[in-house]
This record gives sequence, structure tokens and C-alpha cells, in this order.
Amino acid sequence: MRGYLLTVFISLWMESGYGTDVQLIPSHPLVNKSVTLNVRGITGTLRYFRWYLGSRIDAANQILHYNPNVNPPQLPGVQYFPRAHGLPNGSLHISDLAHTDQGMYTVMILTGGMERLTVHLPVYEPVTKPVIRCSSPHPKVNETISLICETANWERISWSKDSSSLPSRADLSPDNRTVTLHNITFSDTGQYQCEAKNTVSRSVSDIFTLVVNYNEPHMDNCAASMAGIICGTIAGIALIICTTFLLYKKYILPKREVQKEQPTEGQDSYRIYYNVYAATMAQPAKEELPYMGLEYPTQDTYSELTH
Ligand SMILES: *[C@@H]1O[C@H](CO)[C@@H](O)[C@H](O)[C@H]1NC(C)=O
Ligand SMILES: *[C@@H]1O[C@H](CO)[C@@H](O)[C@H](O)[C@H]1NC(C)=O
Ligand SMILES: *[C@@H]1O[C@H](CO)[C@@H](O)[C@H](O)[C@H]1NC(C)=O
Ligand SMILES: *[C@@H]1O[C@H](CO)[C@@H](O)[C@H](O)[C@H]1NC(C)=O
Ligand SMILES: *[C@@H]1O[C@H](CO)[C@@H](O)[C@H](O)[C@H]1NC(C)=O
Repeated sequence: MRGYLLTVFISLWMESGYGTDVQLIPSHPLVNKSVTLNVRGITGTLRYFRWYLGSRIDAANQILHYNPNVNPPQLPGVQYFPRAHGLPNGSLHISDLAHTDQGMYTVMILTGGMERLTVHLPVYEPVTKPVIRCSSPHPKVNETISLICETANWERISWSKDSSSLPSRADLSPDNRTVTLHNITFSDTGQYQCEAKNTVSRSVSDIFTLVVNYNEPHMDNCAASMAGIICGTIAGIALIICTTFLLYKKYILPKREVQKEQPTEGQDSYRIYYNVYAATMAQPAKEELPYMGLEYPTQDTYSELTH
């Protein structure tokens, strides 16, 4: 019986006509979307069909068995998954596509004869919106920087600067993902964009505005000279204050003390001598009295000092 069936199947297989095929709808199926493995060109009455994972007709690979003349028409196979269902015209519909659904699928169709068709199902994913990242947070003149186009599922990347092509001195990596600008100048300032493409989609990044800043050493010099000016000013003010204080202490203060201490002259000869000397320098004509007074009462002390 089994041998007989096999022989029949093989003979039917041999008989089956050309012109049938499986078309993908859509032609580039997307992840999370659905696809129909659309069987075209069937002639005669469709008695039943079976879909299999892979390219071998084997019960272990069977997804489903479908007979439009019974109710329910569909019976699950070993490899059945709920996102798959058969259509009355022999096609297979798969919803919520995942990357793991990618691969070969085979259908066996029984009409007047038998047909076997295998198709490859690809699953595409759109590119993610690219984002431009700069290797330097604060690009400076003469620095070498890189702009990186960050995106996923891309096949090709292209760049623009100020809505036209990149200057020739821009160095593109072999995959176009990275642009290197050597020893940047102010002319590299501008608006950069990258575009990522694949078979099913394209997406353009937001504008990245490159600002080229002055060199840091230049700023250091500027800061240093500013610091110098500030320090100099402070030092100058301090010097004026010190000088004023010393002058006050040396000339104004002693004069007041002399006037105050005049009645008690002779008690501290050294002090009086000093004060008198200072006072004499300031006003030599008037201040003779304390000096004279010093000579008589404390001659010993005076001699000691002059030695
Ligand atoms: C697909 O669906 C999953 C889960 O809902 C989600 O995380 C993922 O971002 C989706 N992918 C795309 C490309 O829409
Ligand atoms: C099979 O049925 C599906 C769903 O009704 C339809 O989209 C598809 O075009 C049909 N295929 C053929 C070859 O008629
Ligand atoms: C950049 O480097 C060149 C030589 O390497 C030098 O002559 C120039 O002054 C530098 N420019 C700045 C702004 O540092
Ligand atoms: C790199 O970009 C250039 C010009 O923008 C383009 O002609 C080329 O095809 C791109 N190459 C790749 C691998 O994307
Ligand atoms: C870039 O600058 C460095 C030093 O700042 C210098 O050694 C090098 O030659 C420069 N390269 C180009 C291409 O100007």
C-alpha cells in the first residue's frame, strides 16, 4: 500500500505542470509585519496542501495540513506555530514576523497531480534613525576629530555637509560609518548629516552642527595674562597700603607721641631720643626742648647709644 502510494506520488510529481510558483507579498517582508507565501498558477481542483519548514517533505517538518473540503480545514503539524495559517488557495500567511522566521519553506499541493515548491523567506528590518556622535566634546583648531553615524540594520551610509557633498579632505572609513577630519580649521564648521539605507528603508539623521573652537593654549595664555594683571593690581594696592602705613607709623605717630609724652621726659631715654630725632627731622626749628632735656638727666644711656 505504502509502496503503491509512493509510486503514485512520484508519478503525479512527474506529471505536474510548470508555471506554478510562490510569490512573497510583500516582496521584502518586514519584522513585526505579516507576509503571504502566495502560491500562483495552480490548475485544477485543489484537494489539499501541506506546508513544511525547510526544503524537505517530512512529517517532522510539517507546519500544517489544509483540506478546504473538511471542517475545520486546517490541522496543525509538528512545526505548527499560531502566527501561521493556510489560505483556501494554497498560500501560507505568517503574521508578526520575527528574524527567526527567516529561511526555506516548502509546500506540497495535491490537485489532479502533485506539486512541490520551495521558497526562501527573508525578514528585513528598517534602519533606525541615525545619530551623529563626535569623538571630541569640544573640537579645537588643529585637532583631529571623527564623526560617527550610529544606526542599525544599515547596508549603506552617505554623508552631507551643509546639504552638499563632503569636502574632499574628509576621510571616510571603508564602510562610510566614520568621517575623520584631520587638523580641523574654522572652515570645517558646518551642518553635517548622515543617511542610512538598506533594501527596505532609508533614514536621515538630525543636523549635527560642528563648531570649531580656539586652541586651548591660546585660552591659557589669555587666562595667564589676565591673572597677571589682577595679581599686579592687587600687589600694587598692597604696596601702597604698606607704604602709607609705614610712613604713618614713622612720621605721624611719633610726633603725636612726643607731644603726649613731653611731661614725662627722662623716664625712657631711648624712646625719647628716638622720638626726638624723628621729630627733629620733621620740624627741626620748633622741637629743641626734648633734645636738650635728654642730655642732662640720662647721660649714661645717651653715651651707650652713641657708642
Ligand atoms: C517589533 O516588536 C517588538 C515587540 O513589540 C519591539 O520591541 C520592536 O521594537 C519591534 N521592531 C520593529 C522594527 O518595529
Ligand atoms: C490567495 O488568497 C489570498 C487571501 O485571500 C490573496 O491575497 C491571494 O492573492 C490569493 N492568491 C492567488 C494566487 O489568488
Ligand atoms: C595649527 O598648526 C599649524 C602647524 O601645525 C600652526 O602653524 C598653526 O599656528 C596652528 N594653529 C592654531 C590655531 O593653533
Ligand atoms: C560611501 O559614500 C560615497 C559617497 O557619499 C558613496 O559613493 C559610496 O557608495 C558609499 N559607500 C558605502 C559602502 O556606503
Ligand atoms: C596636523 O598637525 C600636527 C601637529 O599639530 C602635524 O604634526 C601634522 O603634520 C598635521 N597634519 C596635517 C595633515 O596638516
